Amino acid sequence: MVGEPKNERFYMTITKIKEPAFHITGETGWINDPNGLIYYNGQYHAFFQYHPFDTKWGPMHWGHVVSDDLTDWKYLPIALTPGDDCDKNGCFSGTAIAHDGKLWLMYTGFIENQGGDTIRQVQCLAESNDGVTFKKHGIVIGENDLPDGYAPCDFRDPKVWFHKDSFWCIIAARKIEGRGRILLYRSKDLFKWEYVNDLFGKDSAGAMIECPDYNEEYGYLLFCEQFQPSENGEHLNIHSCRWCIGKIDYATGLFKEDTRGIVDYGFDMYAPQTFAGKPIFIGWLNMWDRNVPSEKYGFAGMLTVPRKLFVKNGRLYQEPVVNCSKVHKLTADDKLTDRITKGVITIKATKLEQFAIKMRCNGVHYTQMTLQDGQWVLDRSKSGEVITGVEKDPDSINGIRRMPCSMEKEVTVTIVMDEFSVEIFEDGRALSATVYPPEDADGLELIVKAENWQYERADLS
Ligand code: FRU
Repeated sequence: MVGEPKNERFYMTITKIKEPAFHITGETGWINDPNGLIYYNGQYHAFFQYHPFDTKWGPMHWGHVVSDDLTDWKYLPIALTPGDDCDKNGCFSGTAIAHDGKLWLMYTGFIENQGGDTIRQVQCLAESNDGVTFKKHGIVIGENDLPDGYAPCDFRDPKVWFHKDSFWCIIAARKIEGRGRILLYRSKDLFKWEYVNDLFGKDSAGAMIECPDYNEEYGYLLFCEQFQPSENGEHLNIHSCRWCIGKIDYATGLFKEDTRGIVDYGFDMYAPQTFAGKPIFIGWLNMWDRNVPSEKYGFAGMLTVPRKLFVKNGRLYQEPVVNCSKVHKLTADDKLTDRITKGVITIKATKLEQFAIKMRCNGVHYTQMTLQDGQWVLDRSKSGEVITGVEKDPDSINGIRRMPCSMEKEVTVTIVMDEFSVEIFEDGRALSATVYPPEDADGLELIVKAENWQYERADLS
């Protein structure tokens, strides 16, 4: 029809009027998963699912930022734009690989056709000499490379790494009529791939797996499950992320699992990916199927703070990485007040008995975390703008998320705060939530009862 927009460049132009201080977001518009995280040529590169022309998900591009310190990020030009035969309707999530003096991206080409079963998801390759502009090579793992019985409409998010003499790639998949699977492929040159095996050989709890991530050095697998039924209330989000400690047996192509758990206990964390070459991951600091109040500021979606990962006692531990300076120590008997909207707070307590913190408060609005019967309980019901999801359990409706407390003799709580988020860490566990408080909500109120305790505030450099 004459006059109808021909492609997304005719969408409205968006202006961003507010943004997080140090969490990655798009220059304007919508973002979701982190992609292609890599430490390359002395800098951290992060790509992300990006729709620059709207604050809603749409034809996915790959946005691109770089950083020297993981805190101060600079925008680079969009790395991948959809529209070629192999990625007609989107360049979905994937990996970056340093090889042969070049930077390679392996990603999913999304071809919508008439939707549903007619969708095709194929794995594509792109190459760059300068780490900024990319040349596409088209499909390298296509529909015909799927083993029999797997659905070509749900086949996405390749994660690639090098081990011994080959590249290895895991891809989220699904059996026709079945639930999520992870398929393993191998290649000598990134172009020709051979199917090895189905990592677990059975269906996942979630209807579909997304964004599998594997770290050979530490031996962990991360993956997200869509529409995963809650298990004993441990994860209440409709979609959630797991870690599994274990190793891929390259001879059989099966994953030998030792233990498993939940990556984040909060409302907002999805699609975590580990940097190639560094045991640090970043996730999407949002969740599908919720409203995003920052749309009116011209952006929707952020990435989590980078988190250092390690495995101890069969468990995945994470610690935030933020480049801060100017540490302020405040002391008090049991009650303390401060002012902070962005930075990092650390509270160390010996023999903790009671803990209650209100963050981003102005009297009316606040985000609260308390210790109740050995659990951290976050309440964002009064944090500011209302965020609603599709979850119907009482905690979700009341704005509550819970995380086990270590109850060790020494307890260290670290809270990373930015304009629109709080990420809480204790004993290697994490609980993340977006919050959209009013601008004047900069107060902090803390009550601690312990044998002794200290509070530190680190401001951004
Ligand atoms: C996960 C996901 C991926 C897909 C991408 C599309 O959040 O659904 O499976 O590649 O987002 O934007």
